[in-house]
Amino acid sequence: MQNLYIKTYGCQMNEYDSERMADVLAVSHDLRLVDDPLQADVLLLNTCSIREKAEDKVFTQLGFWRPLKEQRPELIIGVGGCVASQEGAKLRRRAPYVDLVFGPQTLHRLPDLLDACLAERRAQVDVEFPVLEKFDRLPQRPGRDGATAFLTIQEGCDKFCTFCVVPHTRGREYSRSMPDILREARSLVDQGVREITLLGQNVNAYRGATGLVGEGDLAELLARLARIPDLLRLRYTTSHPSNLDDALIAAHGAIDILAPHLHLPVQSGSDRILRRMHRKHTVAQYLEKIEKLRAARPGIQISSDFIVGFPGETDADFAATMDLIDQVRFDQSYSFKYSQRPNTPALKLKDSVPEAEKDARLAVLQGRVNGLAQSYAQALVGTRQSVLITGPSRRDPNELTGKTACNRSVNLAGPADWVGQMREVEITAALPNSLRGRATAIAVQRVAV
Ligand code: 5AD
Ligand code: SF4
Repeated sequence: MQNLYIKTYGCQMNEYDSERMADVLAVSHDLRLVDDPLQADVLLLNTCSIREKAEDKVFTQLGFWRPLKEQRPELIIGVGGCVASQEGAKLRRRAPYVDLVFGPQTLHRLPDLLDACLAERRAQVDVEFPVLEKFDRLPQRPGRDGATAFLTIQEGCDKFCTFCVVPHTRGREYSRSMPDILREARSLVDQGVREITLLGQNVNAYRGATGLVGEGDLAELLARLARIPDLLRLRYTTSHPSNLDDALIAAHGAIDILAPHLHLPVQSGSDRILRRMHRKHTVAQYLEKIEKLRAARPGIQISSDFIVGFPGETDADFAATMDLIDQVRFDQSYSFKYSQRPNTPALKLKDSVPEAEKDARLAVLQGRVNGLAQSYAQALVGTRQSVLITGPSRRDPNELTGKTACNRSVNLAGPADWVGQMREVEITAALPNSLRGRATAIAVQRVAV
């Protein structure tokens, strides 16, 4: 066994987990990550079950891999992530050629599972929730190239929104300790990372051991991370409105490297629907927090997730969501049609909105949100932005690509050795999915903190 191929579906936490799977198997079995599944001896699929469509994709992909296993029976196929957690051993009933089934919390046990599978010549299933082990058992992150990195600081969710499968697949809330996170962040920065995105299903519910006395919250963690020299930008995602407290709002005003952009899912603009979703906040409370945030950090961009067609959503409820969008003027957001998920309380509610109506509402909502995002992009034209140069442009490898503080891609001309630097760039055009810019002579330096 030499080569490992990993396909990842779903959220950024899955991307982080896939990287860690590669790390752990590199140490234990000397497996090398390859881009081509046909070259691989071990194929891993890191799955997502947040919505029906994401889950369907998993079995379609496994169907593509099945003939490879028929040609080469020694090939190992593993399934991790949330579908594995949700289905457990049942997954093999639908795809009996799968050798390993492991959950998001047992990926550190992959080496043992692989050994057991090879020794016993039978499939292995391990989808427990021993979350405390995971981060202690993973190796230090090895060298990586790239200016941006994800860093998981918190896992799981205790909120139990009625539509959501996450509390059932990722388990209860758990926060890593601050010293552990700071160590990982410093090592990333030593390797050239300049922007770190802190990840958690409920990242602003973070409460981790400080390493001194007691526990600290996300605001405290951000302040400590901001002291790492050479770290130029910090982000965190995904947040719950009810955990956005005054301390965290103040952090947005006080910490210069914290990006002026926050993803704060609201899901619906109707209090009646928010109650049925068990969201624990009202529209008025959400608006009040946005107002405070904008006072603390003028110009902060807010993005959101929306669900349309939740059971019982009337035309009036949907109109209230559209009103909220107009009031907040959200930036680049995500929106989804409600889909029923296994084990969730909303299954008891009648999925009452017809599919065609869900499609129609989604189209209206996306039209409005995309229009707002485009007008924000247009407003950037003519301004100077700090852009972290992340690599060559995908469209033209002779050009560079980078990210603004508000998380937009910018393409520009410049020398390859700018990769990893923050440059001042004048935005010259707003295209549908990216910006164009012209670099000034200025390299943006970090103000000492
Ligand atoms: N149906 C539709 N959208 C969902 N989301 C979560 N569960 C469902 C579901 N059952 C959306 C929410 C969440 C995002 C990650 O996915 O908007 O914020
Ligand atoms: Fe799911 Fe709600 Fe938890 Fe987000 S806060 S992961 S939507 S249960």
